[in-house]
Amino acid sequence: MFKDIEHLVRLAAVMAIALIAFATMRALVVPRSFGEYGHYRGDAIAEIAARPVAFAGHDVCEACHIDVVEQKKQGKHVVVPCEACHGAQAKHADDPASVKPAKLDTAVVCARCHEANSAKPKGFPQVATADHAGGLACDICHQPHRPKIETPAATKPATEGKK
Ligand code: HEC
Ligand code: HEC
Ligand code: HEC
Ligand code: HEC
Repeated sequence: MFKDIEHLVRLAAVMAIALIAFATMRALVVPRSFGEYGHYRGDAIAEIAARPVAFAGHDVCEACHIDVVEQKKQGKHVVVPCEACHGAQAKHADDPASVKPAKLDTAVVCARCHEANSAKPKGFPQVATADHAGGLACDICHQPHRPKIETPAATKPATEGKK
């Protein structure tokens, strides 16, 4: 009466082997702390927390550089945090005497936000830097922390001479 079940037994055996193989592979491959808190490696939290901090945050910069804060307050760059331009400076903030921020290349830094692009909101100040600056560094004319040029009439003739 059981003579026709051989194919079923074989199928069951294949499935059992597949299940055992899956369970073994899973135990080998899935990291131990996976699922400790959620659908990720629990150990990842400690690993990320142990990485050195790169950004100090603008509050820290402002405590020492009061003069720059005063300049920034007078213009629209008041909304731009220090490290958006100066880069990550936690090491400088910890030890200003021995770690100095690198000098910035304004042609690169300013263009990163202000290069004209039709995808940017119309109201955002933007220029075609090649035409606008003619190869000059932006901070020849603009004070980076207070970028508006208050007297364009007086500035333009002087800069035309430079070109
Ligand atoms: C503990 C005080 C302190 C903190 C905090 C601090 N600085 Fe400074 N910073 C200084 C001093 C002092 C100098 C001048 C160093 C020198 O001339 O030797 C300086 C110089 C600089 C310079 C000019 C470097 C040059 O070329 O002369 C920049 C840019 C600068 N800091 C940016 C920052 C930024 C951005 C932050 C925040 C991440 C920051 N600083 C946090 C004290 C500080
Ligand atoms: C929009 C970009 C931008 C922002 C935002 C910015 N800086 Fe600067 N900063 C510059 C540029 C450009 C220079 C001139 C080139 C250089 O020294 O690397 C400069 C120069 C400096 C200097 C050298 C001395 C001086 O006053 O010119 C210090 C110090 C400084 N920045 C600190 C700061 C601090 C602190 C903040 C935040 C409160 C800040 N900066 C925010 C772009 C910026
Ligand atoms: C991280 C992005 C960022 C960088 C980098 C940056 N800016 Fe700006 N800039 C802004 C923002 C945001 C505003 C304010 C826009 C607004 O209020 O509509 C602004 C405004 C300006 C204005 C208009 C000021 C006014 O009062 O109308 C000028 C000019 C300007 N920036 C020049 C520069 C120069 C020069 C540099 C390089 C030293 C620079 N920006 C770097 C974000 C940036
Ligand atoms: C030869 C002098 C000069 C140089 C160099 C220069 N600018 Fe200007 N820029 C001006 C003048 C003048 C204005 C008009 C007055 C103003 O709006 O502040 C202006 C205006 C701007 C504006 C405001 C545009 C708007 O629609 O409100 C931005 C943004 C700007 N410049 C960015 C830059 C950037 C980025 C660089 C470097 C690649 C640069 N500028 C180099 C003189 C200069």
